[in-house]
Amino acid sequence: MQNAPSAILYSPASWFTRLDWSVVFPKRQPIEVDLGCGDGSLLLHWAKKFPDHNWLGVERLKGRVLKLERKAPRLGIAGNLRALRIESGYAVEWLFPPASVAAYHIYFPDPWPKKRHYKRRLIQPEFVAALARTLEPGGFVNLATDHADYFAEMLPCFNAHGGFERVEPLAPATPEEMTDFERDFAMEGRPIHRARFRKVKG
Ligand SMILES: C[S@@+](CC[C@H](N)C(=O)[O-])C[C@H]1O[C@@H](n2cnc3c(N)ncnc32)[C@H](O)[C@@H]1O
Repeated sequence: MQNAPSAILYSPASWFTRLDWSVVFPKRQPIEVDLGCGDGSLLLHWAKKFPDHNWLGVERLKGRVLKLERKAPRLGIAGNLRALRIESGYAVEWLFPPASVAAYHIYFPDPWPKKRHYKRRLIQPEFVAALARTLEPGGFVNLATDHADYFAEMLPCFNAHGGFERVEPLAPATPEEMTDFERDFAMEGRPIHRARFRKVKG
């Protein structure tokens, strides 16, 4: 089925070939991807504030991406926001073209706190390698989590890859720049761990 030009929820013609960004977004401009975007309120904020970037939300739950679809037109957002309902690891590994993403945002990925579930965590060495392959030279990965153990596990994945340098993290300046989960955690007073990496080679 053909996507309407203004449709936010994007279904590629094939889930087995790499996306052509010029088909996904009407304008060629830097692409920023929010992996596990949830209800996407931060994406909506950014897409409205930065119309000269293309914003893509990746989320596996249908109800959450449909919220984006409903809210975007009310905010006058159309061309520079899209959502894919798919698993983040698959999207980065198999759908995104090499060296084509300006920045990834990975905020409060599911921590899978039980040891026997660690293998389900998104941030793993192979996934970090896929992030590096699909980032443009100089592109960024932004991370935030409330889970100290998971954070401690993320950092060596980036350090061991060898293609990233750690730089000053992004921090929300206003409540609109917080994700939904972050707002809840901030109210509970939970510490938030952040990191930002720039691709320097590979
Ligand atoms: C803890 S919530 C955080 C949502 C949002 N980033 C925020 O900070 O408010 C994690 C989100 O990631 C989605 N998610 C978890 N694992 C995923 C995966 N492998 N692929 C796509 N979405 C995923 C969940 O459905 C959920 O919406």
